[in-house]
Amino acid sequence: MVRPGETTSLPPNGPARNGGGGWPESKNAWICWSVVPALTGMICTKWIVSATLWKLYVPRCGQLRGAMKRSALVATTCTLLCSSLPFLVAPRTVECDDHVMARYVIYGGRPGYDRLKMLARRWQATTSALLDDVGVGAGMRCLDLGCGAGDVTFELARRVGASGRVVGLDLDAAQLDLTRAESQRIGLDNIDLRVGDVTAIGDGSGYDVVYSRNVIQHLGRPVDAIRGMWEVVRPGGVLVAEDVDFEGAFCEPRCAGHDFWLETYQATLRASGGDPLSGRRLFARFREAGVPTPQVTVVQCLDFTGEAKFVPYLTVEGTATTMVELGVAAVEEIESALVGLRAMAEDETSLCGSPRMFQAWSRRLM
Ligand SMILES: C[S@@+](CC[C@H](N)C(=O)[O-])C[C@H]1O[C@@H](n2cnc3c(N)ncnc32)[C@H](O)[C@@H]1O
Repeated sequence: MVRPGETTSLPPNGPARNGGGGWPESKNAWICWSVVPALTGMICTKWIVSATLWKLYVPRCGQLRGAMKRSALVATTCTLLCSSLPFLVAPRTVECDDHVMARYVIYGGRPGYDRLKMLARRWQATTSALLDDVGVGAGMRCLDLGCGAGDVTFELARRVGASGRVVGLDLDAAQLDLTRAESQRIGLDNIDLRVGDVTAIGDGSGYDVVYSRNVIQHLGRPVDAIRGMWEVVRPGGVLVAEDVDFEGAFCEPRCAGHDFWLETYQATLRASGGDPLSGRRLFARFREAGVPTPQVTVVQCLDFTGEAKFVPYLTVEGTATTMVELGVAAVEEIESALVGLRAMAEDETSLCGSPRMFQAWSRRLM
């Protein structure tokens, strides 16, 4: 469990993103792990073969033509071997298209998992009410996109029961390992957790419920992503999205650390291709993606005490590396904001309003 307020200094290399310590998840990674070794292998092989043949055969010119043929054969075989080597030895990378996906700006792995657990506890009641409204019941097949620490995945799994199934998809393999361990500990065996990109679901199956919470705000082409989500909703099924809208968040009385959080987090999300006002735009974006006009509600949490008041602290801490990389804020500003946010969280006379959570859902006709 992350202990809010214990860390006010940033790690020198910053927290790792998307599971931490994993391999880069871009086409650049593919180039490094396949094209470069292949070319290197080809050049080295040809050089070695030519040098050997020169030494062996040039004194005996009659044998040169046959030798050249053998040289070409050996070089081609070695080139093919070198080209396939990276695919055999390279770690599995997640395919994702840099143009479709904005980068995920918050740390992943264990600290990201703990932060999501805290957020999930805060939003549990309103998400549960939403799932009641849309009607998630026994035997259904559900897809939880960007499932993270899996709290909604678990809730869906309990609702669909042994005759149903829930697939949870997320980019963060480290986080999914923790989520998988928890699902086993609590005895939920109707869950399938997969590493993958929500902008390329690549799953021909139809689902009764396709759900995502706080994911669309991170996507570079949200309308395309929603269209992809809608494609895997089966007739009679429902597409459900919850996403926050940062302009509604406040702290009373105002506090510099809280202002810093709102300003820099929104700037970081925008600079990374995401949208901090994604919540209010779900309605229009569903329609633009060809989804029938959705039902929309909005909910907000109010806190003067408790762990939820540490969410701004943890979000600044979790976004610090990205903020510094993008030039949104300097390390000293972040450290000073963290001190202020910790004081605000411990002060039971201040009232915090979370970002407003928009909830949109639409059903596909039978
Ligand atoms: C704010 S968290 C929300 C987690 C969970 N839905 C919840 O509400 O507790 C966003 C999650 O989306 C994942 N994510 C971000 N972009 C993604 C993408 N393109 N494909 C799959 N997962 C993604 C992150 O790894 C992270 O776990």
